[in-house]
Amino acid sequence: MKLYNRGMVIAGIVAFLIAATFPLWYGRGKAVPPPDLKLDTPALERLKEKRCIESTTYMRASHMKLLAAWRDDVVREGKRTYTAADGRIHQISLTGTCLNCHSNKDKFCDRCHDYSGAKPACWSCHIIPEEVR
Ligand code: HEC
Ligand code: HEC
Ligand code: HEC
Repeated sequence: MKLYNRGMVIAGIVAFLIAATFPLWYGRGKAVPPPDLKLDTPALERLKEKRCIESTTYMRASHMKLLAAWRDDVVREGKRTYTAADGRIHQISLTGTCLNCHSNKDKFCDRCHDYSGAKPACWSCHIIPEEVR
């Protein structure tokens, strides 16, 4: 039990360090070029302003925290809307909101996760909408 906990703590620290330093190394010209992220989805083409839920810098570094907070809002508090810093109100939904705009999960989420070695295990329960592009 002790060892297991220590393993979890170390895994937690490693995950935190990756997440915390991500903005520092992401996109810097290293041997491996940064992933080619595609934003061209039908939902994004319809938008007048190409904005994410929160600022791009925040999303890049902290979308996992936002998603964890969203899950807690729904599962623990039954809260299903999120008011962003700019006042826009969003439906809390991984599938219906994030993957509505980012419907090209393979060319967006997956590309970046493959590049950075992150493996979010959400899709055994959460539905991936049919990829449009
Ligand atoms: C074992 C199944 C399971 C896994 C794995 C899982 N979830 Fe969920 N998640 C649920 C269930 C059940 C709900 C509650 C659904 C509801 O009430 O709408 C939920 C709700 C959520 C919500 C809020 C409602 C929604 O539809 O988006 C978010 C956000 C969320 N989970 C994120 C994640 C993320 C991120 C991961 C991966 C790191 C993940 N979940 C992995 C089962 C799971
Ligand atoms: C209303 C459409 C929309 C929704 C909903 C949306 N996004 Fe975005 N997202 C965008 C746009 C547009 C950009 C690029 C903004 C830019 O280029 O500055 C973006 C950027 C991002 C980035 C940064 C990409 C990079 O270049 O580093 C991440 C990560 C991200 N989104 C994840 C998410 C997650 C997770 C959710 C759900 C919690 C979500 N997005 C919901 C439109 C959306
Ligand atoms: C710009 C790169 C980038 C993009 C784009 C991106 N992610 Fe991530 N994501 C990461 C990194 C790096 C981590 C790992 C952080 C860590 O290990 O703590 C991560 C972690 C996550 C986690 C937490 C994993 C876990 O097991 O706790 C979830 C959930 C997640 N991303 C969902 C998404 C979704 C959904 C999208 C697309 C809408 C997306 N991400 C797009 C870089 C990205």
